[in-house]
Amino acid sequence: MARFGIIGAGLMGHGIAVALASGGHQVHIHDSDPATLDSLPGRIGTALRLCGASEEASERARSLITATPRLTEALRPAEFVIEAVPERLSVKHEVIAAVEAAVSPDVPVWSNTSVLSLTEVGSVMRHPGRLVGVHWWNPPHLIPLVELAPSAETKPKLVCQAEELLGALGKTTVRLHRDVPGFIGNRLQFALLREALNLVRDNVCDAATIDTVVRSSFGLRLASVGPMENADYIGLDLTRSILTSLSPSLSTAAGPFPGLDELLADGHRGMASGAGLLSWPPGRGEDVAHRLVAGIQRNLESGT
Ligand SMILES: NC(=O)c1ccc[n+]([C@@H]2O[C@H](COP(=O)([O-])OP(=O)(O)OC[C@H]3O[C@@H](n4cnc5c(N)ncnc54)[C@H](O)[C@@H]3O)[C@@H](O)[C@H]2O)c1
Repeated sequence: MARFGIIGAGLMGHGIAVALASGGHQVHIHDSDPATLDSLPGRIGTALRLCGASEEASERARSLITATPRLTEALRPAEFVIEAVPERLSVKHEVIAAVEAAVSPDVPVWSNTSVLSLTEVGSVMRHPGRLVGVHWWNPPHLIPLVELAPSAETKPKLVCQAEELLGALGKTTVRLHRDVPGFIGNRLQFALLREALNLVRDNVCDAATIDTVVRSSFGLRLASVGPMENADYIGLDLTRSILTSLSPSLSTAAGPFPGLDELLADGHRGMASGAGLLSWPPGRGEDVAHRLVAGIQRNLESGT
């Protein structure tokens, strides 16, 4: 059993806490927002239910998680620190400075950043060798993958240690050879989204049609056959000829993204504002949340 201090009890922090406590680890979790801490027990309960934990296992996991409004209290016993605060470099820097002031130099710090450069995240550290990119996927208590990356300064043995610890939890870990923004998964996801926005912008189809195409075609096979295996399966000669024909017309935009900018300027932020790329009538958000979890569970149960 290891002792973890988690900073940030939001969407990711609470799920990471559940994943670790379900594996028998002790977790002290801190958030600067009192309302987030107030809602934590309910969110932990929901996450444990989604994992299918028995009453006994839930009770044990819950007993291993302690929440605190004081950062130093969360960090005092920590053998590992996880930062899961918002994706802004200034916030990461502020929190990491507070972490370094509170723990000894040999305590590894795992950053859950999604797309920031890990080397930049660690640039303010007195001991940057202890920073490891440990990117969990949402919901972290359900999704098996955790991506691991070193910054330019990370001590390699700390990446191995994270790999062993997460492997023992039943997670599927992959290691990047070096730090790139977005790790692997988000780069792939957002390359797809960029092209989807491009198709809508070019008036080839509407946003709902993009989702129909993905969900009813290659989305069905992605959980069982990855893009590289599929490329070999259909043949690299065919793959090369498709890429050669298509590549010149695919988006390579580095921004701006006018389709998104116009929606945002009109106050359309997606589900939260009732409209975005699609319309969000009452009930759609709950339906998506249900489909998301049910789909993940179905795929996990079928062993794909
Ligand atoms: N949301 C996702 O799907 C997802 C997936 C993978 C990784 N991530 C990454 O995980 C990190 C956290 O994302 P999230 O979605 O959980 O965000 P979130 O907004 O749900 O949670 C962040 C929490 O940090 C707290 N916080 C902010 N400043 C703080 C401070 N100075 N001290 C202590 N607590 C503070 C906030 O009150 C909030 O509860 C980000 O780096 C994000 O990119 C997110």
